Amino acid sequence: MDHVENDVTTYPAYLAGQWQPSESHETIAIHSPWQRDVIGHVQAVTQSEVDQSIQAAKNAQHEWATLSLGERGQYLNQWAQELAKDKESLATSIMTEVGKNYADAEKEVVRTIDLIRYTVQEALHMHGESVRGDGFPGGSKEKLGIIERVPLGVVLAISPFNYPVNLAASKIAPALMAGNGVIFKPATQGSISGIKMIQALDRTGIPSGILSLITGRGSEIGDYLTEHPGINMISFTGSTRTGKHLSQKSIMIPLVLELGGKDPAIVCQDADLDLTVKNIISGAFSYSGQRCTAVKRVLVDDQVADQLVAKLQKAVDALSVGSPKNNRMIVPLIDNKSADFVQGLIDDAMDKGATLVTGNQRKENLLAPTLLDHVTEDMDIAWVEPFGPVLPIIRVHSVNQAIQLANKSNFGLQASVFTQDIDKALEIAGAIEVGTVQVNGRPERGPDNFPFLGVKSSGMGTQGVHNSLLSMSREKLTVMNLK
Ligand code: NAP
Ligand code: G3H
Repeated sequence: MDHVENDVTTYPAYLAGQWQPSESHETIAIHSPWQRDVIGHVQAVTQSEVDQSIQAAKNAQHEWATLSLGERGQYLNQWAQELAKDKESLATSIMTEVGKNYADAEKEVVRTIDLIRYTVQEALHMHGESVRGDGFPGGSKEKLGIIERVPLGVVLAISPFNYPVNLAASKIAPALMAGNGVIFKPATQGSISGIKMIQALDRTGIPSGILSLITGRGSEIGDYLTEHPGINMISFTGSTRTGKHLSQKSIMIPLVLELGGKDPAIVCQDADLDLTVKNIISGAFSYSGQRCTAVKRVLVDDQVADQLVAKLQKAVDALSVGSPKNNRMIVPLIDNKSADFVQGLIDDAMDKGATLVTGNQRKENLLAPTLLDHVTEDMDIAWVEPFGPVLPIIRVHSVNQAIQLANKSNFGLQASVFTQDIDKALEIAGAIEVGTVQVNGRPERGPDNFPFLGVKSSGMGTQGVHNSLLSMSREKLTVMNLK
């Protein structure tokens, strides 16, 4: 199936149930962000192959939707089983391709297996409802409405580089369980891991054509996919820039967008500082800050700021830095361009008077974890998502000022509040414009049975297993006119 030359594999695309090279005869080289060498090539799929794949998904979807939930669930449970067999090799692939440390890469695979199994269970337990017409003024009891959920058709699933397996499966599994066909477009840097997870799905004997895997640069094939009349729903996770572009291109198509963030950690005077530091450190720096839900700014009360900064500095200086293979927390960023971007934000802040507490060293795309104090509103780092290991600290005089700064951001994914006063926690949580507020904990997406959403420039619509099943299906009403 895979073509190996000089130890570097050229991976086929998975089009309409067939593993095959693209008719374009063009491939894209994938470099490891930390080993730096080429680790494989993926196909640059053509527009006519996209057409054929979408048509195949449409054809296969009709029969797929007639299977019982239990029958569809069997394929997915077997997929989870196949992924479990491949756990080590898939984790190694994630580590090699996107530079996530091995322990976290393995956690991503395990979380994905759990998510697929949970999605099957959740779908099995969802049910329609019936309603009598007499609930409405003048309505009649003789009208009985039967409300069921039906599939949308073909779902386009577009995933980002930082969770190449989990954020792909969190779209594919609910789409399939809801009875849809799927066109899966992985992030180019992440597509080898995507291919491996689909090889596992293919081994289940899932009907041919129900899912196709389209590799190719988003900048080249993305608009064609998004605007394709055969696509009935788009589930996208990635940057706000691409998400906004998609929302302009897709017309009258249900769209779920999970985008960037600038999650604040609000630290009140009465916070338990040791607990706060533990959560801020793991929130800001795991996977070098390449998480949408990373803590991306600290808004700390003046009264405890010196104490907090001293504790954070100690913790940051103790962080492990280096190779993903050695399970370091701080690992090389996805590419040099991303490292240049983060460096630019650090330089801008320091030029404008921020205090460097620790960090600001760099070897190519490996950046030391960096703490900046006395960050002010005129600095880009106060507002922009770095997606790297840098944490700005903004000192505030009051809870109100913290709320005002939290809400001044264009982003609205999550926020953390650290306080021992439950009333204050609830007051702040109620005032912050985000999808989720974490009280005395770091921002994070899981557990995956929770709804997950961003507001403002952080997204549109809701993920989480239950909500994904809802967004990938629609209501269908049949009215029985009795008597
Ligand atoms: P990205 O550059 O926006 O890419 C995301 C996906 O969109 C990739 O598959 C990309 O393909 C594709 N794409 C690019 N241009 C496209 C187009 N014109 N039409 C259709 N698809 C297109 O994001 P990323 O760098 O992979 O991920 C990092 C960003 O994602 C961060 O901002 C992070 O906060 C956000 N994120 C958000 C969440 C969340 O749930 N809120 C989760 C994870 C990440 P190519 O790779 O081929 O360009
Ligand atoms: O990168 C964005 C992911 O949705 C974050 O997921 O909070 O589980 O790391 P996580």
